Amino acid sequence: MSSLKDEIDMQNLPVHIAIIMDGNGRWAKKRFLPRKLGHKAGADTLEDITKAADKLGVKHLTVYAFSTENWKRSDEEVKGIMDLLRNYLDRYVAKADKEDIKIDIIGERSRLDQDIQEKIKLIESISAEKPGLNLHIALNYGGRDDLLRGFKKIAGRIEDGSLRAEDITEEMISENLDTGFYPDPELVIRTSGEERISNFMLWQIAYSEFVFNSKLWPDYTEEDLYGDICYYQNRDRRFGGR
Ligand code: FPP
Repeated sequence: MSSLKDEIDMQNLPVHIAIIMDGNGRWAKKRFLPRKLGHKAGADTLEDITKAADKLGVKHLTVYAFSTENWKRSDEEVKGIMDLLRNYLDRYVAKADKEDIKIDIIGERSRLDQDIQEKIKLIESISAEKPGLNLHIALNYGGRDDLLRGFKKIAGRIEDGSLRAEDITEEMISENLDTGFYPDPELVIRTSGEERISNFMLWQIAYSEFVFNSKLWPDYTEEDLYGDICYYQNRDRRFGGR
């Protein structure tokens, strides 16, 4: 069977893809299921897409799993997503020697339950030397909160006299964000047909291409990923030039 994978120009593969995994709730609603089962199906899709991106040779994949605004959802739904995360982290640890991908979390951690913070520390340390794709899970993440925390770090240096305000550079701002140690995304994909950024990586997406895919996240497949990459590759990226 032919695959869109064969259409991808491997010389022009995005180094960093970011995904807003939207539509879990609608997927569940269509099936008369509780929302948390939509998130469960979404977590399964995340595993498939991570593997596909890794096999393809994508170096960085950032996924928006829980935003700073998502705390407004019901306690049951928030707990459902946190339990999925616990389960995901535990399963990774159990089969860590066979795993190829590296995992870290971006976002503000102190509001997460203590046990989740411990699991994150463990997984970041055991996966640190893995050779494959870097999966960055955005948890309690908000683009504005990322910038605010970054600006506070920079302001601290001005306060202690080690930096002058006029010496602040764009690079310095980038480096002080949660994503400071990896490149900006060339491609941002949002599923479910919504065409919004929802406070995701506001600074980092300055020159990203956007693909809005109408599939609900639990229905999104490897083929959809390949198709979205092809769609991106057919765009003419000018970075403000002509
Ligand atoms: C948006 O769909 C999705 C979320 C807010 C949560 C995404 C979480 C996962 C895919 C699971 C994460 C799991 C791990 C292991 C990190 P929505 O609920 O807003 O959908 P709707 O717009 O259709 O209601």
